Amino acid sequence: MAGMSGSASVAEASLTPAGDTADLRSAFACFPSGVAAVCARLDSGPVGMLVSSFTSVSLQPALASISVMESSRTWARLRRARRLGISFLAHDQHHVCTQFTSQPLDRFAGLDIAQTTDGAVLLPDATAWLDCSVHDEVPAGDHVIVLLRIHALHGRPAASPLVFHGSEFHQLSA
Ligand SMILES: Cc1cc2nc3c(=O)[nH]c(=O)nc-3n(C[C@H](O)[C@H](O)[C@H](O)COP(=O)(O)O)c2cc1C
Repeated sequence: MAGMSGSASVAEASLTPAGDTADLRSAFACFPSGVAAVCARLDSGPVGMLVSSFTSVSLQPALASISVMESSRTWARLRRARRLGISFLAHDQHHVCTQFTSQPLDRFAGLDIAQTTDGAVLLPDATAWLDCSVHDEVPAGDHVIVLLRIHALHGRPAASPLVFHGSEFHQLSA
């Protein structure tokens, strides 16, 4: 912080060590993101989880990443899939979040889904779809950074996204 002035010195005075996970969670929650459903068809049927950690990584080759809890039982299953479907949720897809996070865990009950021949599962009405495979997995603390190779995609740039910020769902407004 040396050399910074004005409001930066006020921020320095309020910095606390990063050991408290509640503080860390709260600071991370200040960074808005979209919400993506990561889904694939396994022998048992469709399997999926929500992530807010989707990040674009590279154009050539086409790569993206997600960060998943290393203890995630869903990821332990999904990582074996030949292809993973990524659907960026639209502003009116709260019901998908409710369904994916509530018990019992039939996350797809009553949901309309589409599937590629290689088993990527995609949710209609999303703002974009990516057909991916796992390119690499990098352990990172209590998470695993998953690099995804993107094989095919379709975007709907005019569609309005669901936004996750402050641990709540929002919509963009003008
Ligand atoms: C909006 C939202 C964003 C989430 N983002 C992530 C994420 O980026 N990484 C992750 O591992 N879990 C994330 N989760 C949690 C998982 O979706 C879900 O809790 C997890 O799959 C359940 O644990 P299980 O995999 O052991 O069943 C998120 C949940 C919500 C509601």
